[in-house]
Amino acid sequence: MTDTIITERVEIVDVAPRDGFQAVGPWIPTETKVAVVEGLLAAGVRRIETGAFVSPKAVPQMADTAEVHAAVTRPEGARLCALVPNETGVRRALEAGITDLVYVFSVTESHNQGNVRRPVADSLAELERVFELGRDVDGFQLRVNVATAFDCPFEGRVPSAAVLACLDKVTAHGFPMEIGLCDTTGRAFPDQVADLFDRTQRAYDGAGCTWAFHGHDTFGLGVSNALYAYQAGVRVFDAAAAGLGGCPFAPGATGNTASEDLVFTFQNMGVETGIDLERLLAVAEDIAVLPQAATGGHIRTVPRARALADRPAA
Ligand code: COA
Ligand code: ZN
Repeated sequence: MTDTIITERVEIVDVAPRDGFQAVGPWIPTETKVAVVEGLLAAGVRRIETGAFVSPKAVPQMADTAEVHAAVTRPEGARLCALVPNETGVRRALEAGITDLVYVFSVTESHNQGNVRRPVADSLAELERVFELGRDVDGFQLRVNVATAFDCPFEGRVPSAAVLACLDKVTAHGFPMEIGLCDTTGRAFPDQVADLFDRTQRAYDGAGCTWAFHGHDTFGLGVSNALYAYQAGVRVFDAAAAGLGGCPFAPGATGNTASEDLVFTFQNMGVETGIDLERLLAVAEDIAVLPQAATGGHIRTVPRARALADRPAA
């Protein structure tokens, strides 16, 4: 063992069951989804995006999110959240007893139109309905995911001013929330990531929001981008076990940054994750053998003994 002193802690949110599974064509049986979520929980992951309340015509793989939620046995304190694109999604999630929600919109018109089929202004306006619906619900917790915050598959590099213009509206109501800046395409660059988090944290200091980074690894920059976000003060990171994914609405993008790559990096830097790397790798292996699963990442494919050598405690 090294004598690494744990000084900091990050939270890794595993989004493989949502961002990852939504890209897998063949139907993944509900019991397989449940087993993956429970495997992640057993590895110490304490926040998991387990599905989405979206149109089953748009994303057939998410049709059983309510069933997955209902079936999972979860330890005390674990958070299972679901993505919602509109008011209908929020209502369906709340009816299913799910109060930990991720509302998504895109900064760019073309991606918002492709993803949720409406103008950005409509998505932002509907957020007010989300606040109204959630306000009096026990345990309601909201993440707002800002997709294409750095780069858009249709419009290219996204100016930070465009992100701030959206966030002015998101934060105007003073509703407490976590804001996830999402590198939907994986084409953000580390300096851009640090710069945007610097700007947003300064601009909305005191607005009652906290910050998260959602990265993809398309260009091999997923871990670097996360580290620059970390240096900028971010402590919550989305990632997917086995680096699964490839958003159906972001042509050319591959999977999320692999959770095991982030855990490996942070732990060896002395940053606590609470996740057991060996057990996480076992879940990643289970995911990787799913039919037509497009996987990514590095740590799963190096000799296991090297990946786990000199491993600081979770
Ligand atoms: N969940 C389930 N069904 C929904 C829904 C939701 N959140 N929102 C709308 N619907 C249903 C409507 O009830 C309607 O059903 P019907 O045909 O039986 O009457 C149908 O979908 C069309 O409704 P409409 O409001 O016209 O939606 P749309 O066709 O414009 O699609 C979305 C809008 C947002 C529902 C759809 O684009 C979607 O689900 N996108 C999600 C994409 C996604 O998950 N991307 C990856 C994550 S970033
Ligand atoms: Zn994503």
